Formats: sequence, structure tokens, C-alpha cells
Amino acid sequence: SQTFTCRRPQSISRLRLRTVCGLHSKILAGRTITDPDLLESSNVDWLKTVKGSSEVLLRPQTTEEVSQILSYCNSRNLAVNPQGGNTGLVGGSVPVYDEIILSTSLMNNILTFDNISGILTCQAGCVLENLSLYLEERDYIMPLDLGAKGSCQIGGNVATNAGGLRLLRYGSLHGTVLGLEVVLADGRVLDCLATLRKDNTGYDLKQLFIGSEGTLGVITAVSILCPRKPKSTNVVFLGCETFEELLKTFQLCRGMLGEILSAFEFLDSECMRLLNTHLKLPNPITDCPFYIVIETSGSDQDHDSQKLDNFLEKAMASTLVTDGTVATEQSKIKDLWSMRERVTEALTHDGFTYKYDISLPVERIYQLVTDMRQHLGDRAKSVVGYGHVGDGNLHLNITSPAKDPALLAAIEPFVYEWTASCQGSISAEHGLGLKKRNYIYYSKPSQAVALMGNIKAMLDPKGILNPYKTLPDDLK
Ligand code: FAD
Ligand code: MLT
Ligand code: ZN
Repeated sequence: SQTFTCRRPQSISRLRLRTVCGLHSKILAGRTITDPDLLESSNVDWLKTVKGSSEVLLRPQTTEEVSQILSYCNSRNLAVNPQGGNTGLVGGSVPVYDEIILSTSLMNNILTFDNISGILTCQAGCVLENLSLYLEERDYIMPLDLGAKGSCQIGGNVATNAGGLRLLRYGSLHGTVLGLEVVLADGRVLDCLATLRKDNTGYDLKQLFIGSEGTLGVITAVSILCPRKPKSTNVVFLGCETFEELLKTFQLCRGMLGEILSAFEFLDSECMRLLNTHLKLPNPITDCPFYIVIETSGSDQDHDSQKLDNFLEKAMASTLVTDGTVATEQSKIKDLWSMRERVTEALTHDGFTYKYDISLPVERIYQLVTDMRQHLGDRAKSVVGYGHVGDGNLHLNITSPAKDPALLAAIEPFVYEWTASCQGSISAEHGLGLKKRNYIYYSKPSQAVALMGNIKAMLDPKGILNPYKTLPDDLK
């Protein structure tokens, strides 16, 4: 059941049957879903912690249809919940009450791909993995990759400003997204679908929508700069005795691998225990307190192997790492990446999961896990740490056999106060959605939040777009 309480703005109407009939006959014949069984999976989030009660799901195919839907809903004060692959982890992708769900799943066409510049333009509903496969056939790759690639959509990725496993190398979507087409709350289409690397003509409006979690507009198309497919890829899985040694390994690695380093990720021994127990994934090396996944991507296998060998020799000789294995072949690369990518899935089998996605100065990231373990004692089932070391991004996850309000009260605000004391961010890459929005003040000054409120009021004066998400309840 829905865990979070919200104030429903007076201005937003309840859904009425005639609305459904109006939408159905006027706009989307055959693509208006009202069958409760079919709506079930779109009403609940991936973590199964937030459940709405929407009675209508719309599946437009074109920007024009999205425009008609929003114009219709805006004129009748009907709330709309944009939804992509529904893999979001902060309760932003599902309705809180009976908001109309606007799914982009049928907006899945690739529009153009320029083989010289590597610029891809596509509709928002393209699944990330499908885009990756399309590009790989053309010797390119997507600049982002994440464990949810099989379901998440590029529109959802942009709306959440997803980080993922390649950010260390290719940077954030604020840099790689070159253009967006967005339908505003009243149905106007904002065409900022540029395919230019450089364009300083006025304010860069697309940036506003990157990470706005469907609260400012519905993204209908994206143009994105894609890197060439690396000719050589290596993945190394290493074990470390302490987090200090892991950080020293990161330093060494950056120095010795330089431009070929494409990912530096970690998981702790508690994650390994969950992978072994719940997913039956065996540890590829000997048991250690910490594990590192390093990926290199380059254009010359001999050159990259040489650099990697030198690095590994030094890391082993200096006893920074205690054990390790290297993969150059695709299937083993995939297996080693699973050890990192599937921690999220393993956690769902461990119990009710409290997820925290924290940015911190890199040297502080594991201290939070250690302090949290000590703080909670035996009240939690598992307290695990993993994440994107290279980006200073910790995923701290805590499980309990079932939802446990007393445990939650012990975790929060402790975790947010701890983060704020280091000037960290309480949401590094997942967004605020429904779950985290009221904690925004731990990471943003009130003037900044007030300005966000002004922007929301300007772009969506009736508040129909993804209400109860991102912005805090106390915003005037
Ligand atoms: P949804 O979950 O459907 O929606 C997310 C938010 O975006 C909602 O607020 C929704 O309203 C809005 N939205 C969706 N589409 C649009 C649109 N077209 N226009 C406007 N608003 C829209 N996240 C990371 O950052 N890094 C990771 O490494 C990562 N790994 C993950 C691994 C797993 C196994 C899972 C389940 C999730 C992971 N996530 C990660 C979180 C999630 O996958 C990302 O946030 C993803 O970008 C969401 O895409 P989606 O299409 O599923 O969006
Ligand atoms: C990850 O890095 O694995 C994702 O952000 C998902 C998660 O935090 O569990
Ligand atoms: Zn992550």
C-alpha cells in the first residue's frame, strides 16, 4: 500500500467516467486502457512500495497526441502522471491517487542517426537497451548504461537525469543530451530538438527538463550524442581488505589507466552475501570485505592490456588488492558486471528495502554505511553499501523482513543529517519523486526551492503534471 501521505491540491479534480469517455472518443481510440487488471502493473512502482489507483492509462504514439491529451487534461484540471519504463526508485513514476497515466511505451521510434557525428534522435519511449543494440550495429554506443536497461526508456532516463555505470567516462545527460522536444502542461509543443554540439543562443531551456521528473513537461523526443563503440573492453573484479585501500586503488587506477578507465564501481561483502543467497551468484574471487569492478574501454586491445597488466601488477605488489580476475571475453564481462548490476535485484529478495542514494566527498562515502550499521545495531536485517565510487555516489540500502516504521524512524532523519553535515546530496541520481521530496532542504537552500516553485508555477500553473512529486509539500 501507499506509504506516503500527500495533500491533494483543491484544484485537481477527481477522475470521472465522462473524462475517460472524452479521452477515448476524442483522442485515443483503442489506446485508452481502463481494465483494472491491465492497469495494475502501471499503478505500482518497481520496488512495490508505492501504489496508486489510476483508472485510466493512455498510450499515445505521437507528439501531437501527447499535446492533445495535455491540452484536454489542463482545461479540465485533470492530473497526469507521465510514465516510461516504470523502473524509477523514488515513487515518481506511479500515480499517488487517480492521476491519469500517460505512458510513452508506444512512442518507440528511432527518428534519425548521423553516422558521422554519432547523434541519435529518437522518441522518448525507446527502451535504453534497444537503443544500445541499434547503435552497436553501427559501431556506436549509448553514453549511459544502467541495470534497468531492459525496461527503462530514454525519456525516463532524461526525466530522472539517470547517472548509471558510464557517467565516469561520458559525463551526465546534462552534457550528452543535445536537444529535447517537450509537451508543456497546456499542450504547447516546445521544439528544442537541436542536434548541435554548440548553441549559445539564449537560455538552454532543455536543461530545465533534464531531471525534472515529469513535473514541468512531457518529454516526447530526445537527441543525444553517442560515443564510438570501444574496440577493446576489459573488466576486472578485485577484492580489497579496507575501504581506504579501495580508494587508494582508485587513485592508482586513475593515474595508471588514464583515458581508458570507463567505470570504477564497488560493492561490499554484505552485497556479495545477498547475491550468493538470493540470486545464487557465486563470488568469482576469494571472500573480501570490499569488491571493485573496473572497466576499461579503448581502441587498441594490446595497448589497453598492457596498461591494465601494469596497473594490476602494481596494485597486487603493493597489497592494495588481495585477489582479482580479469575478463576480456563478452560473456565473462557480462557475468562480472552482473555482480554489481544485480545487487538491486538481490535486495528485493531480502525484504522491505529502504534505499538511499547519496553524493558525498569520495573519501567519506563508506563511513556512512559503517555509522549507520552502528546506529541501527540489530534493528535492521541487512545494511549494505555499493555504488559509483568514481562519481562519489553511495547506494546505502537497509532491509527489514517487512515494512517497519520504527526502523524508518531510526534511519531518517539520521541519514539526511549525516549527509547534510558533509554538504552531500540526498539524491545523487535517482531524483526526489514522491519519497524524497520533503527532504530537499537538506541539500538545497530555501531560496533555490522557492525558485523551483516559481518555475513550476510558470510552466504548469494548474499543477496537473506529476503532482506530489519532486517539490516539497510546504511549497507555497
Ligand atoms: P519511469 O520510472 O517510468 O519514470 C521516472 C520518472 O520520470 C517519473 O517521475 C516519471 O513521471 C518521469 N518520466 C518518465 N518518462 C517521462 C517522459 N517521457 N517525460 C517526462 N517525464 C517522464 N538510476 C540511475 O540513475 N542509475 C542507475 O544506475 C540505475 N540503476 C537502476 C537499476 C535497476 C535494477 C532499477 C530498477 C532502477 C535503476 N535506476 C537507476 C533507476 C531508474 O531506472 C532510472 O531512474 C531510469 O532513468 C528511469 O527510467 P524509466 O523509463 O523507467 O522512468
Ligand atoms: C545502481 O547503481 O545499481 C542503481 O542506482 C540502482 C540502485 O541504487 O539500487
Ligand atoms: Zn546507481
